[in-house]
Amino acid sequence: MTPTPEPTPTLRQLLAFYLEAGVDCALAEEPLDRLLDADVPAPRAETPPAAPARPAASPMPLLRGEVAPAPEAAIASAREAARTAPTLEALRELLDKFDGCALKHTATRLVFADGNPQARVMFVGEAPGRDEDLEGLPFVGRSGKLLDRMIAAIGLDRSKAYIANVIPWRPPGNRTPTPQETQICLPFIQRQIELVNPDVLVTLGNPSTQALLQTREGIMRSRGRWFDYDTGSRVIRALPTFHPAYLLRSPSYKRMSWQDLCAIAKALAASAA
Ligand code: URA
Repeated sequence: MTPTPEPTPTLRQLLAFYLEAGVDCALAEEPLDRLLDADVPAPRAETPPAAPARPAASPMPLLRGEVAPAPEAAIASAREAARTAPTLEALRELLDKFDGCALKHTATRLVFADGNPQARVMFVGEAPGRDEDLEGLPFVGRSGKLLDRMIAAIGLDRSKAYIANVIPWRPPGNRTPTPQETQICLPFIQRQIELVNPDVLVTLGNPSTQALLQTREGIMRSRGRWFDYDTGSRVIRALPTFHPAYLLRSPSYKRMSWQDLCAIAKALAASAA
């Protein structure tokens, strides 16, 4: 029997497929088939650079004819915007309007936070994945389910904890956020931590730990060790631990993760006393 041919995808479907696969920026005006190495003609001298208005090192795609701001300008405007937000609600609205991070244009929606803003403990992950992008809430997929079980083990749930990410938009195809994207989003999560003002801050995994606690150490060395996190108005105790997605891949580290959870419970009890 002859197989029925697949229907040809529309341009919109093709673009959606590329985005999902993490292809989020055009490098040249015309496609190059790099598998045909020998046959690839040398780029034509008259071919103009792909995006002359964009700094060469910028990973940000230009969308809807916009000129992406230079990362430095975007970082400065993120700092200025975040600094002025008096409340979490205002911060969420500012982020919704903020155009300095290209991830916003490829994500379905902003993933700001979940849980109780009055909570005494705040967990911060790296960036939303597919499930979070669809629901608009952090940690609702598989690793979120494990995070719920981890916090339940020390008597907490989302009504007693606050949960957010360093990056509030899903990177296409779950690719690793670029250092520029992290730097642009950093002032917003820093202001969010300052406004929530928890007694204990828990960084989940390496990217969140390195971005927030300004350490270059890997999570194997930093986990389980207390850091001081200075919000500008107060010094908060901060503890890095494994990201639940890592624990799903490497369950043998759950034993150490349990030790970290016990340390968090102890610190919360001590600060309540
Ligand atoms: N991983 C994260 O770091 N954050 C989420 O919200 C989901 C998965």
